[in-house]
Amino acid sequence: MMAGRRPVVAGNWKMHLDVQGAAALARDVVRATSLARWCDVAVMPSAPLIAGVARVLEGTSVEWGGQDLAAEAQGAYTGDVSAAQLVSLGCRWVIVGHSERRKYHLEGDDVVKAKTVRALGAGLTPITCVGEQLSERKAGQTLHRIETQVRFGLGGLAPADAERVVIAYEPVWAIGTGETATPAQAEEVHEYIRRLWASMYGDTLAAKVRILYGGSVKASNAAELMGQKDVDGALVGGAALSANDFGEIVKAARV
Ligand code: PGA
Repeated sequence: MMAGRRPVVAGNWKMHLDVQGAAALARDVVRATSLARWCDVAVMPSAPLIAGVARVLEGTSVEWGGQDLAAEAQGAYTGDVSAAQLVSLGCRWVIVGHSERRKYHLEGDDVVKAKTVRALGAGLTPITCVGEQLSERKAGQTLHRIETQVRFGLGGLAPADAERVVIAYEPVWAIGTGETATPAQAEEVHEYIRRLWASMYGDTLAAKVRILYGGSVKASNAAELMGQKDVDGALVGGAALSANDFGEIVKAARV
């Protein structure tokens, strides 16, 4: 983490909780993070739970967002959620191209790009995810895989958008497995993404873009990961379901 880039700690609640449980967790997250002025804090509940969570978080320092959005603006897309609908719920954030979307919904880099652009156009801040499979890491193809995902999923943005988008590096083998990238493994990829951003958008924007790490972030490893120079925060899954753990991770984001 470097002074000048405001850290982000985002909780991806995935397909957990119900209306009551989500509201209760949101209340606890507010309590656990109430003193955090040093970073952006956001939670992403399932779409049907957002309205209830928004009622709890309105007026607090905790923001909220969606876990996915449709690439299309509106229309006959059964089951999908539009950017405008998220905005109307007060969302400021949306996760895009999470590996679970890529895997179970076959989202490729072209879809990820379209969704990222749609989110930006609606005024949402996308947290667009990239990350290699274990087989790719073992084959020494990690950086190549990341380059493809960044160039095809995040290329050709307007400069203002290239500054606003948040990138999450989430090695697929570390998501929900309890196995975390070492700080050095994370930093290698984060630094590479920032260099790539410099080649795509110039040094100034590369110095500003925020790159989060995700994949089994816990209270016990968060400080070390976010202590790396190019790790600007965390996208947290499992540990975000505990307000205490999430609060500890937010504390660890203090530069
Ligand atoms: P995890 O999930 O923290 O449970 O590994 C991270 C994510 O999927 O964003």
